[in-house]
Amino acid sequence: MARHLITSAIPYINGIKHLGNLVGSQLPADLFARYQRARGNEVMFICATDEHGTPAELAAAKAGKDVADYCAEMHDVQAEIARGFRLSFDHFGRSSSAQNRALTQHFAKVLAEQGLIREVTEKQMYSVTDGRFLPDRYIEGTCPNCGFDSARGDQCDNCTKQLDPVDLINPRSVISGSTDLELRETKHLFLRQSAMRDKLQAWIDSKTDWPVLTTSIAKKWLNDGDGLQDRGITRDLSWGVPAQFDGAPWQGMDGKVFYVWFDAPIEYIGATQEWADKTGGDWARWWRTDKGADDVTYTQFMGKDNVPFHTIGFPATILGSNEPWKLVDYIKSFNYLNYDGGQFSTSRGRGVFMDQALEILPADYWRWWLLSHAPESADAEFTWENFQTSVNKDLADVLGNFVSRITKFCRSKFGEALPAGGEWGAREEALIDELNTRIRAYETFMEEKEVRKAAAELRAIWVAGNEYLQAAAPWTVFKTDPDQAAAQTRLALNLVRLYAVLSAPFIPDAAQAMLAGMQTEDRSWPGDAKTALQLLPVGHTFTTPEVLFRKIADEEREDWQQRFAGTRG
Ligand code: MF3
Ligand code: ZN
Repeated sequence: MARHLITSAIPYINGIKHLGNLVGSQLPADLFARYQRARGNEVMFICATDEHGTPAELAAAKAGKDVADYCAEMHDVQAEIARGFRLSFDHFGRSSSAQNRALTQHFAKVLAEQGLIREVTEKQMYSVTDGRFLPDRYIEGTCPNCGFDSARGDQCDNCTKQLDPVDLINPRSVISGSTDLELRETKHLFLRQSAMRDKLQAWIDSKTDWPVLTTSIAKKWLNDGDGLQDRGITRDLSWGVPAQFDGAPWQGMDGKVFYVWFDAPIEYIGATQEWADKTGGDWARWWRTDKGADDVTYTQFMGKDNVPFHTIGFPATILGSNEPWKLVDYIKSFNYLNYDGGQFSTSRGRGVFMDQALEILPADYWRWWLLSHAPESADAEFTWENFQTSVNKDLADVLGNFVSRITKFCRSKFGEALPAGGEWGAREEALIDELNTRIRAYETFMEEKEVRKAAAELRAIWVAGNEYLQAAAPWTVFKTDPDQAAAQTRLALNLVRLYAVLSAPFIPDAAQAMLAGMQTEDRSWPGDAKTALQLLPVGHTFTTPEVLFRKIADEEREDWQQRFAGTRG
């Protein structure tokens, strides 16, 4: 049994995420976790809320709430929505946990002991009007790289370039809008990434099977300008992990906290410790190579804007510590999902947000569309027409129709039990051959995290069954040769169970409904399709399931299109 550690980028606490966020990290990670579990492997699937830094402070201030209270409430909201989407985390943690605080301070300490932290007195943007420094998102302005006029102090959302607040052109305070800004001296800790450049380069160069999207972004950062830059890992903020060393303030660092991007990835470990503390499990066998984690395969999922922090920042922390922590084995990154001719926009309320999606349709409809259109090789676009077509064709006409046709036919002619009699012939052998080929291809795509290709293969597997049923036509055969019709029906009803097992990583609720209908909990993954299609024996009873997927009507589609055009407050 292989062991898979799987992490999804941890969403910022500030507000409910849109479908573009979902498909770029949590959802494909869930697909992979469910697949690995279905194959009988041991999985630790971790996610959390990213609660520190300026995003949390700004959102809490906007909501008029204490930041700790705001984070606690929003964590519960995000956890509930994650359950709604059937995201099967083993633990959904909080980066503000005591476990993460201790780990973050531990890493800073060992990095300092390794000589990888230096103190820098530098000039930072200070807002005279607001009476405070303006780190990261507290400042906005024009991107020096691409000219985007709402670049944030830490990163440009348009070109993904990591920025420093002092780089911005025409900077302004996000708190007050004030442009009365000046540079004032302040002291910060810097992680000496430059000293680890060659090590990181060699590590990235060894990852020849990683997506080009991942390695190209990593290489850009390693070779940016004069090479890899050192990064400030503290901030002049009050909310965060205090910049302390063995419980005492780091000299000259009173009142400062670690930068959110320093403690956030450490929360992958922190959340696993939270899980262990809750369940009595052993976190170290997932994370410490001296405690059994050397045989763990660790896969991370994230959007492309997160790649620099996962290919350079976090590995610099792990490698620099010189302690036996588990390093990531594979980084799966995604491009952006656009919305109906533009971008999803959290600030403008443009697009569909996770809570709204679940209000209008069950999770499986979204899961199927999002995963089968995952923005892998390029940015992708959500349109309502495309969504309607996918749901109506793939889910209702192909899969749903197959299940309802064969169960209803059997019920009307043989009753709700697998009928006896007849034998398989050439048509059945041909179907079995095709299924064997396609199931192996599906497995390969799933192992490779080729999400779209896996979805296409699964759809082809559904289509093969539908075409078989259409060509075999047991309803016609029944009139002249009821035994042969019985053999065909047995095969097709077994195919319902097989489809449930294969489809569960994509559409877990429908899969469960199919298994419930077939009155089996046998989720065994198919080896040879021929064996799998004889698993439910003659006489096995079933119930005819309700409609698995309903179709989306044109009026509904138009209505939704209007509703999500950009009004959410
Ligand atoms: N909160 C970040 C975002 O939404 C992702 C953090 S991923 C982690 O872009 F690795 F830092 F945890
Ligand atoms: Zn830019």
